[in-house]
Amino acid sequence: MLSAQERAHVAQVWDLIAGHEALFGAELLLRLFTVYPSTKTYFKHLGDPPDEVQLLSHGQRVLEAVGVAVRHMDNLRAALSPLADLHARVLRVDPTNFPLLIQCFQVVLASHLQGEFTVEMQVVWDKFLTGLAVVLTEKYR
Ligand code: HEM
Repeated sequence: MLSAQERAHVAQVWDLIAGHEALFGAELLLRLFTVYPSTKTYFKHLGDPPDEVQLLSHGQRVLEAVGVAVRHMDNLRAALSPLADLHARVLRVDPTNFPLLIQCFQVVLASHLQGEFTVEMQVVWDKFLTGLAVVLTEKYR
């Protein structure tokens, strides 16, 4: 898990994202659907090309969930349990999709935060998001 310093770095980057959840989230989804078109199969209801308002609205929900994870870094499993149930048992999202989303998230962070998303920040965000994905995918077993 993350050290105290790593957690502080995650929170530092989150402070730059907070307030822009819908924008960052919509861009994340758009990159995900464009770079990895197979992910669109889960989101047919958003339209093709996806409806902008729905992209912003779902993007905001995804990023707000990341915000919840940031606030509960020491208790991710409990905080994300309903979301893990949803992805595993209801939506049945294939776990191979999570690294694709993480990849796109980091590109969004790098493009918006530029110099503030340093290599050191990328390392901790990669660790944090991977931990988040582990929690969201472990209920498949
Ligand atoms: C729904 C978060 C990864 C597919 C949701 C919701 C949230 C969320 C907050 C809405 C839950 C609700 O309405 O109660 C996340 C987070 C992820 C992640 C934080 C990774 C860090 C993925 C991936 C896929 C996916 C990789 C598939 C490629 C979906 C679908 C829905 C959903 C299809 C339902 C959409 C709808 O109702 O319109 N997710 N998700 N999620 N997620 Fe995820």
